[in-house]
Amino acid sequence: MTAQLDIIIMAAGKGTRMKSRTPKVLQRLAGRPLLQHVVSQAQSLAPRRVVVVTGHGAEQVEAACAAFQLPMATSLDMQFVRQEPQLGTGHAVQQAVPKLQDDDGVVVVLSGDVPLTLAQTVADLVEASGGDKLALLSVRVPDPTGYGRIVRDANGVVQRIVEHKDASDAQRAINEIYSGIMAAPARHLKQWLARLDNNNAQKEYYLTDVVAMAVADGVPVIGHCIDDPLQVEGVNSPMQLAALERAHQLRQAAKLMEQGVRLADPARFDLRDDARGVLAQLNCSTDVDIDVGCIFTGAVEIGEGARIGAYCHISNVKIAAGAVIHPFTHIDGEKAGVSVGEGALIGPFARLRPGAQLGREVHIGNFVEVKNSTLADGAKANHLAYLGDATVGERVNYGAGSITANYDGVNKHRTVIEADVHIGSNCVLVAPVTIGAGGTVGGGSTVTKNALPGALTVARGKQVSIADWKRPSKK
Ligand code: UD1
Ligand code: CA
Repeated sequence: MTAQLDIIIMAAGKGTRMKSRTPKVLQRLAGRPLLQHVVSQAQSLAPRRVVVVTGHGAEQVEAACAAFQLPMATSLDMQFVRQEPQLGTGHAVQQAVPKLQDDDGVVVVLSGDVPLTLAQTVADLVEASGGDKLALLSVRVPDPTGYGRIVRDANGVVQRIVEHKDASDAQRAINEIYSGIMAAPARHLKQWLARLDNNNAQKEYYLTDVVAMAVADGVPVIGHCIDDPLQVEGVNSPMQLAALERAHQLRQAAKLMEQGVRLADPARFDLRDDARGVLAQLNCSTDVDIDVGCIFTGAVEIGEGARIGAYCHISNVKIAAGAVIHPFTHIDGEKAGVSVGEGALIGPFARLRPGAQLGREVHIGNFVEVKNSTLADGAKANHLAYLGDATVGERVNYGAGSITANYDGVNKHRTVIEADVHIGSNCVLVAPVTIGAGGTVGGGSTVTKNALPGALTVARGKQVSIADWKRPSKK
């Protein structure tokens, strides 16, 4: 295929049935705006340019496009045209014509609300068009209601597309539907677009009317029918969005399971882009077990033999071999990342925040929060504790209820706990402070000064017992 490729993405529609203030093409599937799925498909076809037709929420949609994180580093020539008002798909594509200066190429039209088309499928469609034919992507579905039907003659040659609302009963019985995706020679498409009218049930300019024009002009029309409806399914309602999400997640789950990942239930697994737009990527080594209800977002790596318990939320982290993440644990490395060392035990109900770096065999127990802290091999914080901006040495035991007071209201300070220290329960370590190696801090201490290595440090009121104490009685 030598013809140059230009891609038009229609993204001006309102999506009334979503009943949302967010434009439909910015609704998310697997954490990624629908339109971003489509833009990245477009990008992987290495087009000369991509023209996005915006209308409803145009400013919001254009700003979102500028922020998309796309998988390849190559720059993409993405331009926008506004369609105002929205008079149909043909009218949408008409708006993009001024951006297509050249007549030599092939134009691919994609819909911003059809997220799961494989780039290879579109590449095959372009191939089928061959630079001089009109190629339509179609699929057979059990229930074609609402879709445009591919009308073929007795010899199977495509004659036209008829929209559901304009179709006769006989045409409505056709179950081969148009996907909304076509590849057309630019020079022909421009002429056909100029001739569109809106004499139809919806009083819209239908892009699909170009098919009958091609037939009339003697330009061959190829109906490229695939057998995977999911690739052409659009999103019109929250119900459809959720259905597509589940189908997509099931495919992601199946892919992982083919690589040997053991998901307890592929129907209860989610992998999404994270809230900052980091693309979903879950890399698992051999013998990884993932229990039900886990949500992975952003970039996650899981080492050999590691196990993830039920209902964990896991983002932007590297989990080393043999680590066990017990149920209901929340890990989000955000930008700084989190790393969990070999054989570490985390949770249940643990929270690892950005910059938590845990060595081998570290134990983090229930209701323990760790942020921007390094825990060396064998360190343990098993119950109800906070470690923020701390450097924790090997084999440290950090008692229940203890916290690093890392914030003085203006600045953050570090706490250093050297190797083999034992911090008792319910201590407050007021940073900046260092607890010397091998030291012990008595339970309930509020430590504001550095503690000597090897020493017992106690910083709390001395215990007194007053014998025969009488409680006050009612007068
Ligand atoms: C369209 C096709 C139909 C096909 C179906 C597949 C037409 C006339 N019909 O119908 O044959 O089976 O897709 O999903 O093309 N849009 C604009 N501007 C507009 C109207 C729509 O940008 O004025 C955009 C929408 O945002 C959307 C896409 O075009 O991304 C498709 O529009 P939609 O109204 O959903 O078309 P359908 O009625 O589904
Ligand atoms: Ca649609």
